[in-house]
Amino acid sequence: MTLQDIAHPIQPHLEAFGHVFRDSLRSKIGLVELITKYIVRQKGKKVRPILVLLSAELCGGVNEKTYRGATLVEILHTATLVHDDVVDDADTRRGFPSINAVWKNKIAVLMGDYLLSRGLLLSLEKDDFHFLKITSTAVRRMSEGELHQIQKSRKLDMDEETYMTIIGDKTASLLATCCEIGAASSTADQERHRCLREFGENVGLAFQIRDDVLDYVGRRSITGKPTGLDLNEKKLTLPLIHALREAPRAEGKEILGMIRHGGKSMKVQKVIDFVKEHGGLEYAGGRAHHYASLAKAQLESFPASPSKASLTAFAEFVVSRNK
Ligand code: IPE
Ligand code: MG
Ligand code: MG
Repeated sequence: MTLQDIAHPIQPHLEAFGHVFRDSLRSKIGLVELITKYIVRQKGKKVRPILVLLSAELCGGVNEKTYRGATLVEILHTATLVHDDVVDDADTRRGFPSINAVWKNKIAVLMGDYLLSRGLLLSLEKDDFHFLKITSTAVRRMSEGELHQIQKSRKLDMDEETYMTIIGDKTASLLATCCEIGAASSTADQERHRCLREFGENVGLAFQIRDDVLDYVGRRSITGKPTGLDLNEKKLTLPLIHALREAPRAEGKEILGMIRHGGKSMKVQKVIDFVKEHGGLEYAGGRAHHYASLAKAQLESFPASPSKASLTAFAEFVVSRNK
């Protein structure tokens, strides 16, 4: 199933969300409007709003509050992407020049702050305090996870357990928030909130592991070539963590030395071959499937419905996606 098929049960809601999203970013400042328009035009996959809407649909039905929840998470997500590209000094995002590439870091940092504040204000203005409570933890976890990753990349000593903590914080926390917010917008049943939050957390782990595998095998729609970007940032992700665990010590040392040194001495292809040779991609793929199964298990208590089928398909989509 494609993401479009998955979104089918909530397609009209997704369009309505688009308007709420656009309207909640309006500003009197010309520069802000210009950059907002640039962002809105690019369109990401909208994974997070889709999760909010499907979760709400599963728990009783989408309503006005659900749109605001979907808008909150997509705005926060966008803010983190804008900041992430500054942090990583990335010059493209979603196939277009990044905000920092077009307008420089100073403006990108401030724009990220603007987005974050608009997201939080939207919930405050409508008394969606419960959303803020759910979301604040994710905002903390996302920034802490990124900082934790930087700390680790300096020492180059990453194990699987630490990796799982980091991806739980930087990625899964927001996906968990999406599903919990969707549920909270349509039912007061705490048990359902918990199921959806757990679904989101596990699907988020699977999503990020797949993302890290894609860094090695290439994203089909963009260049089709492995980017190895994580390696240039000295980020050790699961495929490499596993290969280092399996390979003879000396071989692993040589690879780590190359990554530590960086620059011209870094042969990305050599690291990719090393990872492939020692089963890093199969192992990471297996772990992604494992977390996708844990996610699906959280849906068992819900009666069959199109939204349940879509959430199940989503858990399968995240581990097989190519972009
Ligand atoms: C990118 O998220 C950041 C990660 C958590 C891997 P997405 O892959 O959902 O980005 P867009 O919104 O589709 O561009
Ligand atoms: Mg990045
Ligand atoms: Mg980054």
